[in-house]
Parts: sequence; structure tokens; C-alpha cells
Amino acid sequence: MKIAVYNGPIADASADTLVVDLFKDAKEVSGAAAAVDKKLKGRISKFIKAKEISGRLGDAFLLYTHGMITAKRVIVVGLGDREKFSLDAIRKASAAAIRAARANKAEKISSIVHGAGTGGIEPALAAQAMVEGSILADYKFDGYAKEKKDEKVKIKSFTIAEIDKKKLKAFKEGSRVGEILANCQNRARDMVNTPSNKMTPRIFAEHARKEARKFGLLCTVIDPKKDGMESINAIAMGSLEPARLVVLSYRHSPRAETVALIGKGITFDSGGISIKPSSKMWEMKTDMAGAAAVLEAMCAIAQLKLKKNIMAVIPLTENMPSGGALKPGDVVGSLSGITTEVISTDAEGRMILADAITYAKKKGAHKIIDCATLTGGCIIALGDAASGLLGNDDDLIKSMEDAAEISGEKVWHLPLFDEYEDYLKSSIADHKNCTEGGRGASASTGAMYLKKYVGDTPWVHFDIAGTAYLSKAQGALSEGATGVPMRTIIEYLRK
Ligand code: BES
Ligand code: MN
Ligand code: ZN
Repeated sequence: MKIAVYNGPIADASADTLVVDLFKDAKEVSGAAAAVDKKLKGRISKFIKAKEISGRLGDAFLLYTHGMITAKRVIVVGLGDREKFSLDAIRKASAAAIRAARANKAEKISSIVHGAGTGGIEPALAAQAMVEGSILADYKFDGYAKEKKDEKVKIKSFTIAEIDKKKLKAFKEGSRVGEILANCQNRARDMVNTPSNKMTPRIFAEHARKEARKFGLLCTVIDPKKDGMESINAIAMGSLEPARLVVLSYRHSPRAETVALIGKGITFDSGGISIKPSSKMWEMKTDMAGAAAVLEAMCAIAQLKLKKNIMAVIPLTENMPSGGALKPGDVVGSLSGITTEVISTDAEGRMILADAITYAKKKGAHKIIDCATLTGGCIIALGDAASGLLGNDDDLIKSMEDAAEISGEKVWHLPLFDEYEDYLKSSIADHKNCTEGGRGASASTGAMYLKKYVGDTPWVHFDIAGTAYLSKAQGALSEGATGVPMRTIIEYLRK
């Protein structure tokens, strides 16, 4: 989908489908959209009066223009309550328009920017959100079926139309950022939707190398076995697939601070010897969602040319049971020297993250951001509505919450009370990897395990177990992989 900005009335933009909008309880389509032909406007008003067109957020109403204007169709999307209007409302409305357009075989779309200026929303961010919502909603995982089911017409172009010359610069800048971010997010979604036999640690690492080359990032692929990463190796022992540690780096200037992004890359989590129940086990192909989000965040960072030094550290392995696998009760070391008594081999994510964190610190990270599908407990607490957000630095947590406000990727701050450290006390090692059966505040306990390796370095941890993969569509995102929290991390780094 080609993104463009056009200076002129929407009806003149070259498109087969126009998108205009309407707040709830408004009597007419808003502002610039009034530039659509008079007769057509009258028809739309009739539908509004008859309450056929509601203005409810996420509703989309399509009508044919029957030659009144060049475009064949007009879509009226609802923006919901004016008081509740937000960037995410823009994403939702844009997504609704794209879905209606796709269902009606539209190829060239032109839209006004929804609600720019309403509720103090910056024009650039409004355009960005609109492009994000559109590209994210247009995503579909190709899959592998011999017979492709719905080889529908593809949307070729999406053009923002704006009469006011003064707004063009902001719209162009916003849509450029939105295009980069949403395309990166969709690539992360592709990686997560890919089955584990086609996304092994080695395949992931090769893919990372290619992405790095494409966007001019430095990429090093390390064999954790040779580099003393005992915790990663402990998890990899049960698998025929060798583990990998991918390190990417983006350098802005020697004086800028270095932020480390760390993503859990379990390409399949069977649970290991502490094996998971078979129902829904297939979903554990998504246990590398943190890794994919971090890789694509790096690709976005390079394209946006952010003014920071950023490194990504991505530990990759399968977690499998076998005669050579790690066993409950085993004690393993780590790159940091800290030892772990393994209570469950299914608490594997934190162990591979531990070595990645130590590696990042050794390489001079000033701040650490990790994301991981870490705990089922986080799903119990927050469902698929929000990611758990934990950390050791209140300012950093606040900044991340602010970033999430912009990205629309909801987060919820969960506590790291000292008590949780006691949960992990071991009589034969520095700590345990989890409590018996993972019971009791498992999202917090999982983060507490990581904190021991992080030390005093400012750090936040996203638990994306519930948000990385949707069993049903939510907002602009269809069911399946989401690519969360890539955009939140970028919004934080852009500040
Ligand atoms: N990958 C899982 C967490 C998960 C569960 C993600 C469901 C997405 C959906 C993680 O490795 C895991 O198994 N966690 C255990 C930890 C427990 C043993 C302390 C869990 O939450 O059950
Ligand atoms: Mn597990
Ligand atoms: Zn896992």
C-alpha cells in the first residue's frame, strides 16, 4: 500500500474510494469532508438523519456515488464521542475504513485526516496514527496453503487529502513515521505467525542478518555455547537446534547514551521436561514475539535515524524435552556467575533473558528495556487488553506509560515488591527460577528473577504473554500476532 499526501479537496484526489468521518451525534460529516460534492453530501446527511450512519467508533458505512463524483464509493467512518477522542480512536476508525474498503474491492483510497486538531491532538501524530491504523488493518499472514483462499484485490494506494497547505508538512512527516512503524510491526507479526519449524533460532538469526543489512545495522551472531552463556545453554540442551544470540547495534554518536533492547526468543516452548499440556501448545510458536518486536524496533530505529545509541540483544533457542534436556532440580550457572536452581524447566524465558541482560551490561548499556512472553500469570491478571509493565525505575516506567499512551498499546504497571524476592530463595543456589507450579504473583516473580541480573541499571520489562497473540481481532489488529510493544518502545526512544 503506497502512502501519499495530496494537497487539494478530497473529491479531486485520484481514488476510487473516499473516506470521510463523523463524530457521534454530529449531524454532518466533519470539516474538510464537506468538500465532497453537494448532492452527495445531501445523501450522506439523509443517512445520518435516518441513523443508518451512526458515528459510533469503528463503524463504517459505504455508499456508492453513482457518478456524482469521480470516486465510485464513499466510506463514512465513525469517530465515536468527541470527548473520548484519541490517537487510538483514529487508528480504530482508519482500520474500519480499510476493512470496509477491502471487503468492497477498493484499490485506491483517499481519506481526510480524522479529527486532526480535536482535543489538542498534534497534526503529525494524527496522520501517523491514521497511517498506522490503515497499514496494520491491511495486514494478513500469507500462510502456506497450496490453494490460496481469498486472493482479493489489494489496496494499492492510500492518499491523505488536505486543502490547508499549512498542515501538509506535519501530515507528510507523520505519515512517513507511521508508514515505517506499521510496516516494521507487520514484519514482526509475520515472524511471530511463522510456525516454529520455519522459524528456528538459526533461521531467525539469518533473517536478522538480512534485515540488518537492509537497514544498515551492525549484526553479530554469537554461539552461546562458545561464549559461556550457561543459562541459555541449559535451556537449549533438550533441543536438536543450536541456540543463538543475535546482537544488533545502531550508533548515533559516541556521546549519546546506549539503550539495550532485549527480546525473549524461544522459537518453541514445549515447557521442556516440565512439559506443557498439549491443548494450545501450538501457540508456543509465538514465544519469540519479544525477539521479533525488538528486531523490528531496530529496523524502525535505523529508518527513523533516532539520536541515541541502541543495541539489541536477542537470545534464541527452543525449549524441548529430551534425554539431554535440563531437569527440574538442576542447578545452572550464567554469564554473570549467578546460579539458579531450576524448579520448572517451563520458566525458561527468564533464564535466557538473564544471560542477554548480562551481555548487554558488559557491552555498556545505560538502560535496559526487555520484552518477553514471560508468564501465564500476566494473562490471568490483564488478559489480552494490556501488557504487564514492571521495572526498577519509576521515571522510566512513567516515560514508558506516556509512550504507550501515544502508541495505543496498553500497558499496566505491576509491582515488584521485596516480598517476591523471598519467593525465589533457594537453599542450594543464588535463587530459584520460579515458585512451585509458578503459583503466586508469577508476572512479578518472573520480573524479580530478571532484576537480580539487571542490578541498578534503569530497566523496564514488558510481559507480553497476553498481548503478543490475539485469539480474536482487537482494534486495528486482526487475530494472530500483534507485534506489540514495538511502537511503544519507539515512541519512548523518539522523545
Ligand atoms: N511462554 C510461557 C508463558 C506464556 C504462556 C506465554 C501462555 C503465552 C501464553 C512461559 O515460558 C511459561 O511457561 N511460563 C510459566 C512460568 C511458570 C512455570 C513460573 C507460566 O506462566 O506458567
Ligand atoms: Mn515456558
Ligand atoms: Zn516461554
